[in-house]
Amino acid sequence: MTHQIAVIPGDGIGQEVTPAAVDVLNALDVEFEFVEGEAGDAVKEETGEALPQETRDLAAESDATLFGAAGETAADVILPLREVVGSFANVRPAVSYPGLDAVQPDTDLVFVRENTEGVYSGIESEIADGVTTLTRVITEEASRDIAEFGFDYAEENGYDDVTIAHKANVMRTTDGEFLDAAEAVAEERGADYDTALMDALAMHLIMHPEDYGVIICPNLAGDVLSDLAAGLVGGLGLLPSANVGPDNALFEPVHGSAPDIAGEGVANPSAMILSAAMLLDHLGYDDEGDRVRDAVEAVLDEGPRTPDLGGDASTEDVTQAVLDRL
Ligand code: NAI
Ligand code: MG
Repeated sequence: MTHQIAVIPGDGIGQEVTPAAVDVLNALDVEFEFVEGEAGDAVKEETGEALPQETRDLAAESDATLFGAAGETAADVILPLREVVGSFANVRPAVSYPGLDAVQPDTDLVFVRENTEGVYSGIESEIADGVTTLTRVITEEASRDIAEFGFDYAEENGYDDVTIAHKANVMRTTDGEFLDAAEAVAEERGADYDTALMDALAMHLIMHPEDYGVIICPNLAGDVLSDLAAGLVGGLGLLPSANVGPDNALFEPVHGSAPDIAGEGVANPSAMILSAAMLLDHLGYDDEGDRVRDAVEAVLDEGPRTPDLGGDASTEDVTQAVLDRL
């Protein structure tokens, strides 16, 4: 069976790390057909649109999408793309690897972030000169869905600790809804869990990440806390993510287009390659996903390494080393 994969490299280092992930997928014994689509700042400059209709269609009709990163147009690209694939769950593992100088070497966290509402619904307005508002939408249905997904993920991937992050002491109605719905799911399942106020959680994650496993969060909290966790394990060059819906999914590194290093050929391809490993899991190729993760882990441990990890290797050197290990 051939799987059609939409490949959207985007801008900046997206153009450099996306081919690395495609090379890795091509090295496996799985039939893929890669179809490339355009999105981001460059195509907006050309056509006036950051996410052309044909790219939307491509993502919608493919079995899965690999997305690199967009630049200034990121919100105009990734928010609609997540919608096109119907993804309600954003999964962001943050794992510390042996051999790397991680701030916290015992980190093995997975953020399960609600991906459709919260403060990212885009309902913003300027109601008067210098006065702006934002409507934060939280529904019972979306909160239950993300909680179900998070508890399933914990079970399937062997995580004992599940934490529901919230700020229901202040956002009593909206985060109150999120917390109530998530706790109701936990009670119905008879699952063990903890709850944590998201600000205090940020501090605890820095000091004791080993106390946590799967963290179920509202949209904004998941975005911020997962970047924080990236810092614990060695930087954004290491964090993959999956945007998962009932019938489709999109895989992307957590990082952006990194204009400060774009064009130099030194971007760390690990986050993107690990995103491809999550794509493999999603399509049912768990063994291949593990093989890719093992290869990346071995290269991170023994080198070569890109400059963000203290080395002087290029994106291509690292990609080749991963391919050699496969
Ligand atoms: P960024 O993730 O692009 O870069 C932050 C820092 O991490 C930079 O110093 C960068 O060099 C480094 N970095 C990131 N990925 C790396 C990699 N693979 N290897 C080595 N170093 C890496 O975030 P920033 O600087 O906040 O945003 C830059 C642009 O990216 C902005 O235009 C922003 O809108 C966009 N962006 C896009 C996202 C997306 O498409 N999903 C997500 C985040 C930002
Ligand atoms: Mg982010």
